[in-house]
Order: sequence, then C-alpha cells, then structure tokens
Amino acid sequence: MDKKLMAATAAGMVATGKGLLAADESSATVAKRFAGVNVENTESNRRTYRDMLFTTPDIGKYISGVILFDETIKQQSLGGVAFPKLLEDQGIIPGIKVDGGAKDLPAHPGELVTEGLDNLRGRLADYFKLGARFAKWRAVITIGKDMPSWGCVEANAHALARYSALCQEANIVPIIEPEVLIDGDHTIERCFEVTEATLRATFQACYSQRVSAEHMILKASMVISGKGCPVQASEAQVAEMTVTALRRSVPAALPGVVFLSGGQSDEKSAAHLSLMNSAHKSQLPWPLTYSYSRALHAAALKAWSGKQENWKAAQQVFAHRARMCSLASQGKYSAAEEKKVA
Ligand code: 13P
Repeated sequence: MDKKLMAATAAGMVATGKGLLAADESSATVAKRFAGVNVENTESNRRTYRDMLFTTPDIGKYISGVILFDETIKQQSLGGVAFPKLLEDQGIIPGIKVDGGAKDLPAHPGELVTEGLDNLRGRLADYFKLGARFAKWRAVITIGKDMPSWGCVEANAHALARYSALCQEANIVPIIEPEVLIDGDHTIERCFEVTEATLRATFQACYSQRVSAEHMILKASMVISGKGCPVQASEAQVAEMTVTALRRSVPAALPGVVFLSGGQSDEKSAAHLSLMNSAHKSQLPWPLTYSYSRALHAAALKAWSGKQENWKAAQQVFAHRARMCSLASQGKYSAAEEKKVA
C-alpha cells in the first residue's frame, strides 16, 4: 500500500476552496438528464457535454477532482487528448465510479443493495493505469414504512467496506457514499436517526475490513426533511443536525467529508454547506466540501441544451456554480455572491 500517494490524493481532493465534480452519471442516468433538455443520448453527445465541462476556463481553481464514468475515462476530448490527461494538465485529479449500481435487495421489498464487487480488483488495477487516483461507490438507503431495515443497512455497509479495502490495496482512495435518499415525507429528525445509524454501521464495517480511515473520503448526504414533508427544516437546522450526525459517527482521522446534492436546489445545497463551514467551523475535525452532480452542472446542461452556439454561455454558468460551491466550502456563500454573474 502506497500510503504516501493516497494521503496526497485525499489531501488534494479536499484542498481549501475546492471540491469534486461528479460527472459519473451512467449512460442510463445521462439519458434522463439529456431528455429534460431534448438532447439525444449518444456517445458523441455525452463526450461533447463532458468536454464542455472539463474545458471550462480556470475550472481547476474550484474543482480538485472529477468522478468519471467507465466510458468517459476511456474517451478522448474533442481536441484528441485522453480525458484523464486533460484533467491532470489542469491540476485536477481523475477519479472513477466503480460500483455496478443499486439493485433490488432480495427479501427486502423497496430496498436496494449496490453490486459490483466481482472482478473489482482487476478493474481497479486497470483504472489506476488509466490515471484514476480515487474511486466512488454509492449505496442507497431509503426511508419509508419499516425502512431502512437492518439487513439493508448492513449489506450496503459491508459492500462499501469490501470495496474500500480493495481500493486501498490498489493505491486508490475510496469515496464511500451511503446516500440516505431525500424522497419521502419523513421529518428531519427521522433523517437524522437513519443517517447516524447508517454512518455508524458503515464505519464499523470499514473497521472490520481493516480499511485505513486516514486514506478514505466520506461522501455524505445532508440531514434534511424528506421532499414531501409538510414542515421543511430551516437552513440553520440542516447545518446543525448534519454536523451533529457526522461528529457522532465519522472518525476524526478521515482526511475529509464531501457532500452530494441529492435533489436539493443549487442555492440550498450551497447555503447549507456554507453554514456548516461558518456557524460550525470550530466543531469540524475534517474539511467539509462538495461532490455535487446536479447542483454543479444541471444549470450548465440546460444552458448548453446540445447547441454549439451555447457552449460559452454554458461554461460561464458552470464556472459560476463552481465558484458558489467554492465559497460555500469556505463558509463565504451569500445571496449577494449568487447574483454576481461572471
Ligand atoms: P447529486 O449531487 O446530483 O446528488 O449527485 C451526486 C452523486 O454523485 C450521486 O452519486
């Protein structure tokens, strides 16, 4: 295990003022996103879209690493450079999503378990050769009547831990992402309870599998009210309860924690992160930053809408969101900054 390399990778991922861009949507998820803006889901359009994001001027100021999808890590930019190299040349660390997706968990109707451990050792070695220095595995925890079950939490925690151990063996920093879904009408208190239980189980499984806490990153969901809950918690409550849940269950030895946006609006996902980094700064043993997909580039996708003439405008929209997230990671996001378009 090259601990020095992994420590440097992890530190780079959560460097001050920077965070991760999640651009690892599977082709099926891209199909959904593209359909919303009437873009055909072809390999060429996916490549063009990612090229637009990755060639945005100065994006390395705000983006420390990009999570790629299997197709993208093997593609070349429109200018003929392999995507991982194009990122490295801007000081951005290439990463890779390695899970095989969330599938129905047998005997647990409505719950999911993430697959993909088979052959993972070989795949990780191949991805390292292609330039990947970190990886991501997303587990999905659903809140509902009698859910999550302990069987679901445990199965996902075990898979996350096995994946992490394999990553570290390959000198790749694992991002573990146990996402507690925003869907449902549950309260923020229920989300808190489920988030704490999930994180505790996940780190216990990582300990059992001898995963090194110093060489992994947590990608967490924020503690928020369910989308359908009639009483929506305030920004201050979200920040306070998220920080409390993390402090109770995440080892202080972790180099950093990043968040997913999970269906929150662009503004809320920035405001919540910013509050955690301002009001709760002194309570945080780790840097807290972003690893957003939708909240970083959904607006840019809309601005682009598959049209060459929108390329520059879309890059400006992306750069703006990246700057807002960067400010949030430093506790400096505000509505006034939001209005300052480059
Ligand atoms: P969102 O920020 O859109 O939730 O996506 C983050 C991600 O990578 C989910 O796995």
